[in-house]
Amino acid sequence: MDYTTTANIYSQKLEEAEFKLIQDFMLNNLGVKLSPIKIVMVNSRLIKRLKASGIHNFPDYVSFALSSEGKRSGEQQCMIDELTTHKTEFFRESDHFDILKDMILPEFSSNKRGTFKIWSAGCSTGEEPYTMAMLMNEFKFNHNGFDYHINASDVSTAVIDKAVKGLFKQQTMKDVDPQIIKKYFTKIKDERDEVFQINKTLRDRINFSRINLVDYYSFPNESFDVIFCRNTLIYFDEKSKREVVAKLISKIKIGGYFFVGLSETVSQYSKAIKQISPSAYKKIGLTNE
Ligand SMILES: C[S@@+](CC[C@H](N)C(=O)[O-])C[C@H]1O[C@@H](n2cnc3c(N)ncnc32)[C@H](O)[C@@H]1O
Repeated sequence: MDYTTTANIYSQKLEEAEFKLIQDFMLNNLGVKLSPIKIVMVNSRLIKRLKASGIHNFPDYVSFALSSEGKRSGEQQCMIDELTTHKTEFFRESDHFDILKDMILPEFSSNKRGTFKIWSAGCSTGEEPYTMAMLMNEFKFNHNGFDYHINASDVSTAVIDKAVKGLFKQQTMKDVDPQIIKKYFTKIKDERDEVFQINKTLRDRINFSRINLVDYYSFPNESFDVIFCRNTLIYFDEKSKREVVAKLISKIKIGGYFFVGLSETVSQYSKAIKQISPSAYKKIGLTNE
């Protein structure tokens, strides 16, 4: 691609009409609400797709990406990958991990209830489920007979692909305890940067998959001791939030726990949960009206 073409792509402007089509798509398919001010963000994030797809203007790009051909070709998924927000970090909102470690795991293990099952729904690049894995591995080491399984899912295949590899740049690791790094990561040099890979024993503990939380999904015969759905519902419209919360709660065992992000509350959506700490809930087993 020559310089003139590249410069031309970067000067493309997303008009209201195309933005509206994208807003409707994201709302109807992912439950994600893009407010009008997000037009600037969408414009800048999709410019790279104009370049990558070879469709160098927004009207043609949007109409292709939203079409069934765009879906088949994978461009629709690339657009979703760009328009979802993936900010995350290891041990994020660490109070929740303290509750898991100090209250939930000891409670579970003293009741000897088989394999502990946990789900990170909206797991982004994997920092959240890998934090769970490190924490549970420590617990397993000190508690004979304890075993666990982690499911992790996201609607973005780009972040799932990254998470499966378990590769993290040094910058991402800056707040992680050096002892933890030493124990659970292997330093790998890539050409430009230092990269750490989470050890295979922990990678093998996690089952990563693409799940759109507003779509039909099922884990056959699965119910969870704990579900984390943190900093994901904040992007949803009210109706999707209500439906997704109800569905997630239905997947939690009675007496199990549900965590959302620290800026989120969900008690208004269900009588089946009781708040035990900020943004942390216990399923108490009433029906979910
Ligand atoms: C900000 S990240 C949160 C990551 C992690 N839970 C945390 O708190 O650090 C939100 C994630 O939700 C995902 N997401 C957005 N809409 C979704 C949907 N409809 N179904 C499943 N995941 C979705 C995004 O792709 C993104 O990776």
